[in-house]
Amino acid sequence: MSDRQPHPLLPTPTGLLQIPEQAVTAENPADPSAGSEAPPVFFSLIVPTYNEGKNVENLVKILSDLLTGQVPGGYELILVDDDSPDRTWEIAHSLTATYPQLQVMRRENERGLSTAVIRGWQAARGEILGVIDGDLQHPPEVLLQLLAAIEQGADLAVASRHVGGGGVSTWSLLRRVLSRGAQLIGLLILPGVVGRVSDPMSGYFLVRRSSIAQRQLSPLGYKILIEVLGRGKIRQLTEVGYVFRERVEGESKVTRKQYIDYLRHLVKLRLSLGLGRFLRFGTVGFTGLFVDLSIFRILRVGSQLWFPTLGIPAELASAISGEMGIINNFFWNDLWTFGDISRQQRGRKQRLKRFLKFNLICLIGLALNTLIFSALFRVFHVNEIVAKLIAIAIVTFWNFWINLKLSWRVTEVK
Ligand code: GDD
Ligand code: MN
Repeated sequence: MSDRQPHPLLPTPTGLLQIPEQAVTAENPADPSAGSEAPPVFFSLIVPTYNEGKNVENLVKILSDLLTGQVPGGYELILVDDDSPDRTWEIAHSLTATYPQLQVMRRENERGLSTAVIRGWQAARGEILGVIDGDLQHPPEVLLQLLAAIEQGADLAVASRHVGGGGVSTWSLLRRVLSRGAQLIGLLILPGVVGRVSDPMSGYFLVRRSSIAQRQLSPLGYKILIEVLGRGKIRQLTEVGYVFRERVEGESKVTRKQYIDYLRHLVKLRLSLGLGRFLRFGTVGFTGLFVDLSIFRILRVGSQLWFPTLGIPAELASAISGEMGIINNFFWNDLWTFGDISRQQRGRKQRLKRFLKFNLICLIGLALNTLIFSALFRVFHVNEIVAKLIAIAIVTFWNFWINLKLSWRVTEVK
């Protein structure tokens, strides 16, 4: 056993969840009597813990053996414990005498995995910030690949269960379905954020301090990665496959509350990132619906008033008003929803090309809408208004996704 004294506990940051541009320097943990400020380190790894008393010694030993001598510029481990009933923080604190790179933060007035990680990053000295679970379900050796990815220029390096070499051990079908279901909902609400990684649920990654510094983070629950993706400046991103291991000691703290927090977090992030392309697209769709219905009524009622003999048949009125609705939608989508992309590709020819593609996709959407409506209404005997709304919702996703990929994306300036 070392004759060194355990370090003092790290003070718990309070106030805004914002990471400083410059790493803070603590009292020199190796030799607090020296009074000198601790030297900066290259890499700070946060280990959030709650009731990990049986795992912590093993984890600290494995991480120290793995990282000592491997990380040029040095590293630190910051264990952030939320005052666990099994006194994980106390066990870890006693280990700081043996492992000088280990620091311990005991949070008594705040709880939650994501905020624990951010408070750890606020107290960290490293240029690269990381997070790993404290229960050995995240294989520590993957850290070396994540560090290599950062050295090669990545702003964010994520350990993913869903890329080559990845997987989950013996997860129940329910846990797999819940995890994938949560990912799908994330893709619908935040396609530009959740869609950037194959495993947005991952709690195992490294990020460059400069990519998230000075940004006010406000996560909910467990999913710190989507907060970093949503609010950080992440240009280059790398994923490394890993197999999520079986827990040996203790148990998962994931409850229904975490799933509800996740949904609340998605909506909160969605709203704070602005209406977002998809919601703008939906808003434009509503104006198109209004234009379509108004012109339809004008044609039908007007023609009976002004040209009683002529009269415009309902199908012709519907086709004309439908097309007017599509033109309306193209105009506003090109100006507002996809304005950032269309402004890079001015010129009448480009615009006409976008309009023709948009029109074709919307006409296919119209046919799809009719098919879905009649299947629901005629075959499944769903109420006609409900059938209509379901058909419109499905086709809206179709129109949005295909237009994003074809009409606006393809004509992007190469
Ligand atoms: N400080 C703190 N406060 N730590 C917490 C809290 C908390 O409220 N809740 C959980 N932890 C710690 C646990 O002690 C563990 O070290 C880690 O966070 C993960 O918690 P688990 O309860 O073991 O989560 P899981 O194994 O079901 O899921 C984990 O892995 C998934 C895949 O990477 C979590 O990291 C998920 O976020 C992740 O999606
Ligand atoms: Mn776990």
